[in-house]
Amino acid sequence: MNDPNGMVYYKGVYHLFYQYYPEDIVWGPMHWGHATSSDLIHWKHQQIALYPDELGYIFSGSAVMDIENTSGLGTKENPAMIAVFTYHNMEFEKAGKINTQTQGLAYSLDEGKTWKKYEANPIINNTTLKDFRDPKVFWNAATKQWNLVLVAGDRAQFYTSSNLLQWKLESEFGQDKGAHGGVWECPDVFPLKINGTKEEKWVLLVSINPGGPNGGSATQYFVGDFDGKKFTTNQKETKWVDYGTDNYAGVTYNDAPNGERLFVGWMSNWNYARNTPTTNWRSAMTLPRTLSLSKINGDYVLQSKPVAQINTIKTTDYSAKKMVVSKENATTLNYSNLNQSQIHFTAENKNLKIVFSNDANDSLVLEYDAKNKLFSVDRRQSGKVDFEKSFGEKIHTAPTENLTTAIIDFQIVVDWSSIEIFLNGGVYSLTEQIFPIQPYNKLTIQSNDKQVIKNITIDSLKGVW
Ligand code: FRU
Repeated sequence: MNDPNGMVYYKGVYHLFYQYYPEDIVWGPMHWGHATSSDLIHWKHQQIALYPDELGYIFSGSAVMDIENTSGLGTKENPAMIAVFTYHNMEFEKAGKINTQTQGLAYSLDEGKTWKKYEANPIINNTTLKDFRDPKVFWNAATKQWNLVLVAGDRAQFYTSSNLLQWKLESEFGQDKGAHGGVWECPDVFPLKINGTKEEKWVLLVSINPGGPNGGSATQYFVGDFDGKKFTTNQKETKWVDYGTDNYAGVTYNDAPNGERLFVGWMSNWNYARNTPTTNWRSAMTLPRTLSLSKINGDYVLQSKPVAQINTIKTTDYSAKKMVVSKENATTLNYSNLNQSQIHFTAENKNLKIVFSNDANDSLVLEYDAKNKLFSVDRRQSGKVDFEKSFGEKIHTAPTENLTTAIIDFQIVVDWSSIEIFLNGGVYSLTEQIFPIQPYNKLTIQSNDKQVIKNITIDSLKGVW
């Protein structure tokens, strides 16, 4: 699988569709797979939702509930779930045509179980562009219209509609903004209040491949204003949702309860997605994350941290109120469940090194360099790394000028093949795949300075499958 698609919450159920090719473990003719959850932690596989047809493969897109039956495809009593996605026409591609991508619509009258393609597809045609995809549709409560944002090569396009079927192009954004190391993909746009204030801003997510801060694919964001037709920002520098190499194509839920803004990304990178050393478990999604906006150093910062529901599967196996570490005095904890655990603590805003290792000499090294304001993940010796050159080539870094507090919160979630790191409640996050030869069973904490660690807990996390 790859991108998360069609994320919508309805009647107590989180729907997660995703890019899926059922016949192989590498990318192929794309379908929409489907999974559902009532808590964002435990998921049930559902039958495949969308199959390729004569208009093409089913690429990424989104879903909404048409509660008022604006499309006429359902009824008010039984509203349609509507998916808007990209058709990628392989025949056109083989014939050397440019305009391979158009937007299609499908609807379900049984809450996502079975689907019908709309008979007048495509709903947004394309005659000139090579890259024209990944529509995100949502109801704009302020303008009382449907909005759609998609990407067209090096820019995002914003559309409006009253019925989800006919769309009007209103504006474009981005040709001269943000990172352009690769083509733009998988946009999303949504409002968020700045933490602790009444001020509201709009956040535009745009994935790019390649051109990420540590190579390959990554997701940038813009903070600005959106009046239902046009997105504007005076942001100058590029901002990244995640500094790890394995959080791509992430978008957010429509209609999440309690006004929460919930994000899920695909935990891989196009640099090596096809080559990871796995067989029947190729790719996973990131933990679902709650997004929020803060103002730090006078600028808007998007924070993302794991949803609180993760606490329902944890058992605390180790805890200590205080632990003093230094260069000479490292602490090593032997713990056999590190590859299904959560490690949480606070530390002073000073140097800190955290090493996961095992008896096979694999080691994964995280380091916070407070002086140079840099956080790094070194997975060069973390296990299997030689399946693709770019995987284990470099130390990955995040500049951390927004870690401004005297005490820093570290939350780290490790699974069999991934590590998700959240600093200060997700002011920075780094998501990385890892393939240790054996599970890590030693956690070493040390510092070049004298460091006081407080409230450390190691939780084992229950399997969710
Ligand atoms: C992003 C992406 C999308 C596209 C899909 C195809 O990973 O390239 O732009 O719709 O994957 O599977």
